[in-house]
Amino acid sequence: MLGDSLEQAVFVSEESVNRRRLNTGLVSHTSSRHSAGAQISEKTCGDVDDARAGVNRNSGVSHEPTITRYCYQRGISVIVAMFPLLLKKAVYFEGFMMIIVTGATGALNGATVHHLLHTLPASEIVVVARDAAKAARFAERGVEIRTGDYADPDSLPAAFAGADQLLLVSSSDPRSDAVGLHRSAIEAAVAAGVGRILYTSHQGAAADTPFGPGRDHFATEQILAESGIAWTSLRNGFYAHSLNWCLADWRETGVIRVPTDGAVSWTAREDAAEAAARILLSDGAYDGPVTLTASKAPTFTDIASIATSVAKHSVEIQVLGEDEWIAAQVDSGQQEFMARFMLGMYQAANRGFFAGTDPVLGDMLGREPRTVSDLLESPATDR
Ligand SMILES: NC(=O)c1ccc[n+]([C@@H]2O[C@H](COP(=O)([O-])OP(=O)(O)OC[C@H]3O[C@@H](n4cnc5c(N)ncnc54)[C@H](OP(=O)(O)O)[C@@H]3O)[C@@H](O)[C@H]2O)c1
Repeated sequence: MLGDSLEQAVFVSEESVNRRRLNTGLVSHTSSRHSAGAQISEKTCGDVDDARAGVNRNSGVSHEPTITRYCYQRGISVIVAMFPLLLKKAVYFEGFMMIIVTGATGALNGATVHHLLHTLPASEIVVVARDAAKAARFAERGVEIRTGDYADPDSLPAAFAGADQLLLVSSSDPRSDAVGLHRSAIEAAVAAGVGRILYTSHQGAAADTPFGPGRDHFATEQILAESGIAWTSLRNGFYAHSLNWCLADWRETGVIRVPTDGAVSWTAREDAAEAAARILLSDGAYDGPVTLTASKAPTFTDIASIATSVAKHSVEIQVLGEDEWIAAQVDSGQQEFMARFMLGMYQAANRGFFAGTDPVLGDMLGREPRTVSDLLESPATDR
């Protein structure tokens, strides 16, 4: 099927169209919820015609995609990258599971890898980093480090090759085209034959949320749903340590200033990281969106009460209104872009996007997730 000429016709039976990817020659399973239609990852090679256009499900013989030299080279690079893995699989075989993690040089997925290392041998974990030097602490423990950057799609298929599960971090740059970056990563995962993608999403992911990243997460979940790959979306509650930024100098001033009030299920990043490891180790028990939140969603008025009892002096809430709050942020040195970005969070809270709580995180951890009181009782080290 793969040749050196620029274009060759490929004829396949209906059964193979329904069950196998065509463009790199890799074979992979798909989740049962997505296996009903033809599963063809034609978008991974942008210069291939839409393969689905030629699929006649009744006759089963008229599918005519073309495979270019570019696709051929991409396929070969994945196969070369998979060779050591196949060797490992041959050695361990029974029970061998390959988990590949992006974003492990960051706080969330870095903590998840540490949790995984409590249970799995390092040989079953691969870390993909933009800068391999930043992942040295994992290399020292025997974890394989590969380089990959969502902004460099050619770096990704080989980086993701061999993954039974791929933990995909969401972009951390609010100025980037996050959805475009996530799409590149998902397409590369499909091309590499990854078994399941786990994506770090956010509670309240929705097309109509005023919080920008929430819209990006929702769009990414749509891409996952349409990708044909098995996927899990880890809809983490808002990071509790972000509250230190929102509350600013409340300890000194006794005042919490917000543009508008609303409930948020402030959730410890450490708890979300531990849950991600448990979900990875469950090997497919969680499918689609999973909401991971603390057990309560206090409003800022509630938080002023909690702060009062923690500080043992009165802490009051001032709801400034949006314009006055933005002006105060800019006066205090905040970039207006970032102030408006955070305003979206308050607006989403006010409209209830972060107000839900779900017992699944506590159930998974076997304990109460960390609370806002826990956060306020410890010194503010992470804003
Ligand atoms: N739930 C919430 O409240 C909340 C709050 C803030 C952020 N988030 C999201 O959660 C994610 C993880 O949080 P975190 O605290 O671990 O963030 P973090 O410490 O800033 O780490 C972000 C990680 O993503 C990697 N990354 C960024 N852009 C990438 C790209 N184009 N290709 C490959 N890797 C890339 C970074 O790699 P480098 O080390 O090379 O930079 C880093 O490892 C964030 O990226 C963000 O999308 C959620």
